[in-house]
Amino acid sequence: MTAQITPLIAGNWKMNGTTASLGEVQKLAGLLTQGGGPRCTVVICPPATLLERLNELAASSGIVTGGQDCHPAPSGAHTGDISAQMLADAGAQYVIVGHSERRTDHHETDDLVQLKALAVHSAGLVPIICVGETEDQRDAGDALSVVAAQLAGSLPDDWTGHEIVIAYEPVWAIGTGRTPTPAEIAEMHDAIRADLETRFGERGAATRILYGGSMKPSNASQILRIGNVNGGLVGGASLLANDFHAIISAV
Ligand code: PGA
Repeated sequence: MTAQITPLIAGNWKMNGTTASLGEVQKLAGLLTQGGGPRCTVVICPPATLLERLNELAASSGIVTGGQDCHPAPSGAHTGDISAQMLADAGAQYVIVGHSERRTDHHETDDLVQLKALAVHSAGLVPIICVGETEDQRDAGDALSVVAAQLAGSLPDDWTGHEIVIAYEPVWAIGTGRTPTPAEIAEMHDAIRADLETRFGERGAATRILYGGSMKPSNASQILRIGNVNGGLVGGASLLANDFHAIISAV
């Protein structure tokens, strides 16, 4: 990890979680409080239906919340969508945009992801912008160029006053139990850092770059030790308090 950057561990619950799941949050809050509080920023991105209740439960233990997606517009006739303003109103501080499941299931393009990131900024929240290659792209030797193109297209050019978080999530590692080698993660995170520094100077040097894709208690400390890995975006392992706590503790 990079010493001067406060790490961030974010849990992405995806389309999982009902009232019963709040018990896991209560348990996690207890574990964190017993341990004297987390040594990193801890974010949980639950389904929007649980956002407010999760905030109430978790705030005192230092956990903050985020949305999993938003519409680029602040309001309007967009049935079923949710805006960044609404997520802010419910207490969110972060919003994931451009997750590969959104890019695949909803055909989201880099242009749309960039509009969403700008909408998140307008609402005063921090976007977690996801990028990552497919297995075919990696096998073809295109992983670095694919991610560079996604970064070029998904990050707003006029990024000035606000924070941005990048999450590198190889699509083939999400939910599969497979991860890239430490050398592959290091190569990609170094390339993303260089890209951010070229484009945004000191802001790029200070930006948190998360790794995501089958991060779990057994591999977290190895991954979090890699240079330019400033935290993780955790799916499956964020649903159970003990697993997520073990990952947070690996920081
Ligand atoms: P996973 O998901 O940890 O279950 O692989 C990560 C993600 O999609 O954010």
